[in-house]
Amino acid sequence: MPTARSTPNIALIKYWGNRQNELRLPAADSLSMSLSSPSVEIDADFASALTIRSFEADGSPRELTDTHVDRFRKHLELTKNFLKTLGAERAIPASVSIVIRSAIPPAVGLASSAAVFSCLARAYAALVEPVIALTDTQMSVIGRLGSGSAARSIFGGYAALCVGTGSGIASSFAEQIAPEDHWTLHDIVIIPSKEEKKVGSTEGHALAPTSPFFATRVEAITLRRQQECIDAILARDFEKLQKVAEEDSLDMHHVMETSTPPLHYLTEDTFSIIKAIEEIRASEHIPVLYTMDAGPTVHLLCPSESLQRIRAFARTQKGCTVFETSTGPGAAMV
Ligand code: DP6
Repeated sequence: MPTARSTPNIALIKYWGNRQNELRLPAADSLSMSLSSPSVEIDADFASALTIRSFEADGSPRELTDTHVDRFRKHLELTKNFLKTLGAERAIPASVSIVIRSAIPPAVGLASSAAVFSCLARAYAALVEPVIALTDTQMSVIGRLGSGSAARSIFGGYAALCVGTGSGIASSFAEQIAPEDHWTLHDIVIIPSKEEKKVGSTEGHALAPTSPFFATRVEAITLRRQQECIDAILARDFEKLQKVAEEDSLDMHHVMETSTPPLHYLTEDTFSIIKAIEEIRASEHIPVLYTMDAGPTVHLLCPSESLQRIRAFARTQKGCTVFETSTGPGAAMV
């Protein structure tokens, strides 16, 4: 039975809002760095009916709600539809059994769905290999059908989810911008609250277009930000990366906070961490950037030269959980 492994990614240009929700066709480009940990492993096999079992890192079972199971069922249905467009409709004859082992705490701002669905895309690719050899691009489409950001975790290093055009199932996919060894950045993750977020990303994406700032955001990414981020990564220009990544993260939260209903993911803890980082940067002139996904968690990205300082700062954050990771290899078979 094939076992795949994958990890979350941290977005530097955020994916927020779709042009088509069911297929998770994004409204704009996005870009991320795949992380080296925490990882998810999935065993997948053919079965007559869908079964999913999920376990924590310590082996204890993780309960799956009907909503979770429905998401996997829907993803399998969409995957089969995609395989059909490739002339491989019989590659998954009936259904599948899936075993998930995840070391990622649920809903704390680390994108567990990105790790899970990129991992599942790899596992499905291995399963259908006797019938069709899927490319990384095709795997990124399968990942995207489960979670938009999962398309990017197929690749190691830095990857872009390209918006594409049209409404075809494969009209948006990810591509690698630079491999893992191009530029190692550390991600010191500061988690102020372990409370599960109230509104998940899927619901949030559907609300994004209700913000009066959504169209301007899409335009800024399309005309400038995505390319600036790519250029910064290719040139290993941290200052440029910091400017565009922070601008885009704050802009996404502005869209979230002005949607109907508004989504407030950032908390006082988030703002106090940001303020402290801006002060450290101003007084000590060290490279570090902050970025927040759909939660209060702050990701502090930095090159090796400022790791000790940022690590020491993170340790002083009372009541917060701190997690350390870095640039990683993307989804792979174990
Ligand atoms: C804020 O990929 O988690 O982390 O497709 O509904 O699973 P679904 O959404 P998801 O959205 C990610 C939102 C984000 C930004 C990002 O990772 O680009």
